[in-house]
Amino acid sequence: MRSLVPDYLADVLADVASDTSGELAGYIPELASADPDRLAAAFATVDGEVYGAGDIDAAFTIQSVSKPFAYALALSDRGFPAVLDKVGVEPSGEAFNEISLETGTGRPRNPMINAGAITVHSLAGADDPEPGARVERIVSGLSAFAGRPLRIDEAMCASEMDNAHRNLAIAHMLRSHGILTEDPRAVVDGYIRQCSVLVTPRDLAVMAGTLANGGVNPVTAERVVDAAVVRQVLSVMATCGMYDAAGDWATQVGIPAKSGVSGGLIGALPGQLGIATFSPRLDEHGNSARGVSLFERFTTDMGLHVM
Ligand code: DON
Repeated sequence: MRSLVPDYLADVLADVASDTSGELAGYIPELASADPDRLAAAFATVDGEVYGAGDIDAAFTIQSVSKPFAYALALSDRGFPAVLDKVGVEPSGEAFNEISLETGTGRPRNPMINAGAITVHSLAGADDPEPGARVERIVSGLSAFAGRPLRIDEAMCASEMDNAHRNLAIAHMLRSHGILTEDPRAVVDGYIRQCSVLVTPRDLAVMAGTLANGGVNPVTAERVVDAAVVRQVLSVMATCGMYDAAGDWATQVGIPAKSGVSGGLIGALPGQLGIATFSPRLDEHGNSARGVSLFERFTTDMGLHVM
């Protein structure tokens, strides 16, 4: 099996390689200049084997794939009631950057959309941290999920912050409802730093593998978060991870997943493996076009569907 997996992955990549459908994310200038042809897939099993094919060591910014991991860190740091009080768990059925706040309370509908993720960012780490300490907590937490020290791409961060009008508007709405209690600009700055952490497809496979393994990194054997936290995170990934394509994904692929605008996509199959793909062109929902095709292929070939 071990020698067959890389060949299988290389074959599947070759089958989707000619598909150039979709567009690069245009609203972050630094992302719009990415190489659109990069393509990779990696698997990390719960017993710590990592397999990959294509550009598995290509570095790119994690973007929204950070959201389930930041949610896990916030749940660990603050406990469930404090986080659930501020962010719901219902699918919004809307795009990732819609405001999607509950009427009355102003609570973001879930932690996978930007409104929820900006709020979750503000909840990670200690209550009222020193400047920079929250971002450090999140970068070190993401690093524990990946099993190596990760760092922020400062150029990407500056590029996104210069064009963050929509996220700033969302953060000001959250502040007006008392969901955020700090300066909205500072929270968005930290959230964008979180999104600008550099990862490779190999890292994302190990991060997803840590979720599949109940919160223990299968390569380093470090317990990163409790199993109860992972259960919550996987449930929210299953219902909300693919935004307004969540229903299509559930029926056609059927595993908890999360996408990002830089072209990363992860899926976690509890007790078995973490999967990551990378291809920067996005479909109309903001999900990696070839990434979705790869996952459809994996689920068909290996019977992964669990939802
Ligand atoms: O906040 C944003 O818009 C980006 N930093 C992340 C969005 C994202 O990755 C959405 N996923 N498809």
